[in-house]
Amino acid sequence: MSPPALAVTGLTVDYGPVRALRDVSLLVPEGGFVAVLGGNGAGKSTLLRAISGVLPFHGGVVREGGITAAGTPLRGRRPDQIVRQGVVQIPEGRDVFARMTVAENLRAGALGVRDRAAVAAARERVLRLFPVLAERERQRAGLLSGGEQQMLAIGRALMAGPRLLLLDEPSLGLAPIMIGRIAETISAINGEGIAVLLIEQNAALALELASYAYVLEVGAVALEGSARELAASPEVRDRYLGITGGADDEPDLAATGPAKTLTRWSG
Ligand SMILES: Nc1ncnc2c1ncn2[C@@H]1O[C@H](COP(=O)(O)OP(=O)(O)OP(=O)(O)O)[C@@H](O)[C@H]1O
Ligand SMILES: [Mg+2]
Repeated sequence: MSPPALAVTGLTVDYGPVRALRDVSLLVPEGGFVAVLGGNGAGKSTLLRAISGVLPFHGGVVREGGITAAGTPLRGRRPDQIVRQGVVQIPEGRDVFARMTVAENLRAGALGVRDRAAVAAARERVLRLFPVLAERERQRAGLLSGGEQQMLAIGRALMAGPRLLLLDEPSLGLAPIMIGRIAETISAINGEGIAVLLIEQNAALALELASYAYVLEVGAVALEGSARELAASPEVRDRYLGITGGADDEPDLAATGPAKTLTRWSG
């Protein structure tokens, strides 16, 4: 069996005196789609920063634990080395180069890639996925709408030829119709065999897209299970999906029965 696209084991992270993650373990199977849910300050972005190697730029330190991508250890590696392992993050707030054109932003995503044919193929693929970017290639990225900038951020990440895509709240601040488009695109990307780790406060969206999910609470994994199980669990329905009634409102999800493999945090 091939090693998982991502394996995080016992990860503990501090920002100075602040412990942001405690003993977090999670798996993303090769080509899998996994979501991490959690409220503000739960440690979601910290988890992604630790994986992509940018944690030191935020004043954070990995104290304990291991991170491997397709069997290769990532802990202690530089962000560019981690990108070369096929692990590419789309940070919170998208963060495109506003004064550069769309085309320049896309090229920047492929800076570490030497294979010119691969870069050209990646560009074709991105412009096919996001026709609006093709129309705006010469335009400055800062002039794009929020949703278009999110598309550009995803497109730029795809230019690096990732095996695993790390997304930090791609739906944040977008109109529902745009969220739908981004969601379809992420599913399509996953359908092409690229593994996805999706961080979301929008639990309904995350559980619809992912097949497995983890819930982070104050820096620790509080709950994990298949997306179906989590969507049916009273805690998730109450706290993250805002459904306070009984389980009758959504019989198809509730019909999955007692969530036997649902792992409860007993602390
Ligand atoms: N650069 C930093 N320096 C110090 N503390 C930080 C830093 N970044 C985050 N923290 C703290 O670490 C904890 C986790 O923050 P993190 O940004 O990972 O949460 P999050 O789940 O992404 O939240 P949100 O949903 O608001 O984006 C919080 O208590 C936060 O205050
Ligand atoms: Mg965050």
